[in-house]
Amino acid sequence: MTIPLNTIIHGDALEVLKGIPADSFDSCVTDPPYGLGFMGKAWDKSGIANNVDLWREVLRVLKPGAHLLSFGGSRTYHRMACAIEDAGFEIRDQIMWIYGSGFPKSLDISKAIDKAAGEYVPGEVLPSSRQSAASETGIATSFRTKNGTNPQTDLARQWQGWGTALKPAHEPICVARKPFKGTVAENVLAHGTGAININTAPKPVLRALCAEVSAELADKMDEYRRSPGNDLSSVTWYKNVPGMGDITIKPELIEMVKSNYFTIYSTGMTEGMEQSVNGVVQRSPLKVLSWRLE
Ligand SMILES: C[S@@+](CC[C@H](N)C(=O)[O-])C[C@H]1O[C@@H](n2cnc3c(N)ncnc32)[C@H](O)[C@@H]1O
Repeated sequence: MTIPLNTIIHGDALEVLKGIPADSFDSCVTDPPYGLGFMGKAWDKSGIANNVDLWREVLRVLKPGAHLLSFGGSRTYHRMACAIEDAGFEIRDQIMWIYGSGFPKSLDISKAIDKAAGEYVPGEVLPSSRQSAASETGIATSFRTKNGTNPQTDLARQWQGWGTALKPAHEPICVARKPFKGTVAENVLAHGTGAININTAPKPVLRALCAEVSAELADKMDEYRRSPGNDLSSVTWYKNVPGMGDITIKPELIEMVKSNYFTIYSTGMTEGMEQSVNGVVQRSPLKVLSWRLE
């Protein structure tokens, strides 16, 4: 079974994945429900992201060494990560989507205290806003004006500024990899998976590869790889970047851009039957390294 590039399959992942052959995909990037009951939606309450059976299926359809990136909620990520690990993935890292635009959903303790005491004044109590509210809706709203703005009670004043939740500002992304046999280099050559291509990897990935790569160095690496004429064919190209000094990035993390090895996929079809082979070939000297019927 060959799935054409850029195909969208609409369905329940638990069901759909069962119909896909093992070792089919190079990677999986997914944003499953965070399990927070988003806007009361049923799909965000099913616990699918914590379902080990789902991740077992994802593991099965990925090629050996393939990476999985899965987004999670800051409050629920840990259960998803455990399920991913329990399914057989190796947790490799965690990346973070950090943003400043989140809207806080915190309970205002001061307001809650006033409400419990029956003293809370809804809406703005300034006369001008009362009037504009009434004129906009045409309904005379019953704002009370007693004692000016909230909080009303001494206790509520004492707890002003206290809440129950931080403003959302990050979402963790689990970085996991399907285990494989042999070395990373062998796996990369056989399946094209298992490593991160730092020639094209975004700058945060460059930094994640090695603690010594600062933001400034990541900028320089990016500039170097974009400059025409710079040779990127060696796995140690980054060593030519000004300022890299003695920094060494583990070679097994870096995918080669030139190779003496090739993977050949071939599918034969006749009268409704279909057979595919997957072969790994060495170019020079010419040698078939593996030949597998699928
Ligand atoms: C967090 S949202 C993803 C949003 C998406 N990344 C976007 O930017 O629009 C999670 C999605 O997973 C879908 N979903 C929930 N359970 C699923 C399942 N068992 N199989 C496939 N999709 C599912 C939901 O319908 C929802 O659209």
